[in-house]
Amino acid sequence: MKIIIINGPNLNLLGKRENDIYGEKSFNEFFEILVQKYSTIELCHFQSNIEGEIIDKIQETGYNFDGIVLNAAAYTHTSVGIADAVRAVNTPVVEVHISNTFSRENFRHKSFSAPHVKGVIVGFGLQSYELALQSFLQ
Ligand code: DQA
Repeated sequence: MKIIIINGPNLNLLGKRENDIYGEKSFNEFFEILVQKYSTIELCHFQSNIEGEIIDKIQETGYNFDGIVLNAAAYTHTSVGIADAVRAVNTPVVEVHISNTFSRENFRHKSFSAPHVKGVIVGFGLQSYELALQSFLQ
């Protein structure tokens, strides 16, 4: 099973960024743990701060991977382009957020992609990614 985690803007700063909200761990540290724990999954990770690169990656993996775990970060709340890419591809997408976006500012309550994904996992810290992986294993 081939699954890619696609992370959007500023998620490269996990561990350094607003630790009270996003925790102390860098994504790379967390990713290594996931790779070891889910050794039966062929797991990839891509991060970009650039909207078009995220769209390119969804298109590139959206016909030949078994699952996409997408945290489009701030673009979740703004990007019709990413939502259209999610709609376009065949690979099921699970949207994740580290923080509970619904307990934060109003602008974070809107997700352009949420109506087009298989499911949304919000607010479990980095464990949101793991829950998304597990959903593909069911
Ligand atoms: C986030 C929530 C977004 O509102 C925010 O812009 C992020 C991260 C999360 O994982 O909690 O960068 O997607």
